[in-house]
Amino acid sequence: MSPIKKSLSLFLAMFALAAVTGGCSKQEATEEPQADVSAAAEESAAAETGEAAENSAPAMSPQDERHELMEEVLDAAKVVGPMLRGEADFDAASAMNTLQTWDEVGGKFGDLFPEGSEGGEAAPAIWEDREGFNAALIEWQDATAAAIAANPQTLDDAKASIGPVFNTCKNCHDTYRIEDE
Ligand code: HEC
Repeated sequence: MSPIKKSLSLFLAMFALAAVTGGCSKQEATEEPQADVSAAAEESAAAETGEAAENSAPAMSPQDERHELMEEVLDAAKVVGPMLRGEADFDAASAMNTLQTWDEVGGKFGDLFPEGSEGGEAAPAIWEDREGFNAALIEWQDATAAAIAANPQTLDDAKASIGPVFNTCKNCHDTYRIEDE
């Protein structure tokens, strides 16, 4: 019927898929052990050179960090998804929280795919076509920013402004995320 309907059904498909395929938890717990040692070494190096040690929190691998960020994105989606499906009461403040989480993650997600960090559910296409990946990321950021600006106060407004954001999730995943079958 309308573009809204279409985007909503895409979103439903994508959301169902995400719910079923779950995560990449099998990969967790691989990279922790030397974190303490290297953080301590970094800290003392920073102390010697007089550098501020702001970034001395135990380093997470980019793989772990992007996984964790997408989990946050998913948790936020789980708040707004049921509202858009009519399974939960619409709550404008919660919907805005979701959008703000996406906005925050969208701002740092792109930095977590340095050369050599291939793997997990991140498709090789990210490294083969960085421009395309960045474009998909910008689409998500723009759609999220537009929804924040729209500041939806009713379910219909939320469908119109947040529905399209879910399309940008799917759009990126189609090419740049490997889903386990
Ligand atoms: C610019 C590309 C891009 C956009 C936009 C994007 N994702 Fe992702 N997503 C990825 C990539 C890449 C992975 C795999 C990350 C990894 O494991 O390294 C992923 C993983 C996931 C996962 C699996 C979580 C896990 O365990 O790693 C979920 C769920 C998910 N995304 C949901 C979403 C939702 C919901 C949105 C939109 C609100 C979204 N994504 C937007 C690229 C994107």
